[in-house]
Amino acid sequence: MKNYLIINNKINSFNKKITVSGDKSLSIRWVLLASLASGVSKADNLLISEDVAAAIDAVRKLGIKVLLKNNFCKIYGKGINGYNYKKNIIIDAKNSGTLGRLILGLLINSPFSIKLIGDKSLSKRDFKRISDPLIKFGAKLKLTNKKNLPLSIQGSTNLKAIKYSENRGSAQCKSSVIFGALRSNGTTLIKAKKSRDHTELLCKYLNLPVYTKKNKYYDYIKINKFKKFRSLNYKIPSDISSSAFFIILTVLTPNSKLIIKNVNINPSRLGVTKILKMMGIKILFQNKKKYKGETTADIKVLSPKKIKPINCPSELNSGAIDEFLVIFLVAAKANGISYFKNLEELNQKESPRLKWGAKILNEMGIKTITTTSSIKIFGNPDLKINKKIIIKNYLKDHRVFMTSVIAALSFGGSWKIHDKDSIKTSFPNFLKILNLIKNSD
Ligand code: S3P
Repeated sequence: MKNYLIINNKINSFNKKITVSGDKSLSIRWVLLASLASGVSKADNLLISEDVAAAIDAVRKLGIKVLLKNNFCKIYGKGINGYNYKKNIIIDAKNSGTLGRLILGLLINSPFSIKLIGDKSLSKRDFKRISDPLIKFGAKLKLTNKKNLPLSIQGSTNLKAIKYSENRGSAQCKSSVIFGALRSNGTTLIKAKKSRDHTELLCKYLNLPVYTKKNKYYDYIKINKFKKFRSLNYKIPSDISSSAFFIILTVLTPNSKLIIKNVNINPSRLGVTKILKMMGIKILFQNKKKYKGETTADIKVLSPKKIKPINCPSELNSGAIDEFLVIFLVAAKANGISYFKNLEELNQKESPRLKWGAKILNEMGIKTITTTSSIKIFGNPDLKINKKIIIKNYLKDHRVFMTSVIAALSFGGSWKIHDKDSIKTSFPNFLKILNLIKNSD
């Protein structure tokens, strides 16, 4: 089957109600926590994607039974010391930074050495940022080239609590250290720059000894060792990061309206809606509900008459970190120059995304000025594309693919976008849902 997508036409106005797939961050965290629970946990609406499949394979390798039928999943946890595996196992995190980093926190008491590998993209990413704090607990980690996968981890039975300052706004590092702290003697203290807090909320729901105090820029987290926790039944709400592509398609398509049902609107993930609101876009949260510590709502978005440029406040960065590529498309249509700064973390993702963001915009005929941590985007509300654009060799970064699709449907031109199968990592239903929107009555 051909692994590229050709788009030659803009999308017509639409008025639709859709549901997107389950939240990826929550799906992976649920798999990992359920694997340590005492008893059988069940999840509904688990995201079925390669990243989550890799998490399921990983806990199976650790001796945990998992049943999966469509997006319903049952995990037979055997307690916190229930992992049972042979020497020399290899865990493959594939494309998933979240899985690769979080699982290390659970393995810091492993009696044998375990090898962690990943795909080409993950093998280029920084794992020193997480091996450094985990070594302080007393685990042994060895990396390739001091920074990269493959790595080996061998745990210790005498783990001691640590003090850890997380200054990048990385929820993956923070979460992995929380998992490590839950296995260690004493009280671990984390000072973490704001980032998504799903791990803390799940731990709180499970009555685990994880206590958070928040101020505007940092969260202060205190964690003690735990012995046992109950199973966790969970209905995973929809993913705001997946929703963002359709929200922005609506923003860029005149006279359109979209409702996305039951999305996780955790405040630490709302950078994208805050930024869009600052750019003059009307977004409403309807049917707001609390669900096991998280907040959900239906998101309603209306396409605007005019888009304002933004000088994006850096404190919104971590809450929108996965959405910037597609947010840049909104800036491309704004009535003036937008500026996004302190975004060095964006080049640490599945591909160097600041670079790819600029590349897509430049191909479209939008002027940008980029540094290693910032981008200035010279918006053009009248932009029309009349050329051929080819997008390829982007390390199969799913979000580069989906952003290019939204750009093609919004601005026109004739696009050939390679590596269609990249969407399997986070959002296999992306094109199906897009077709539902396209076939508007
Ligand atoms: C994630 C955290 C973020 C994000 C990633 C998912 C998580 O990464 O980009 O897609 O689920 O914890 P960092 O923690 O590296 O910023």
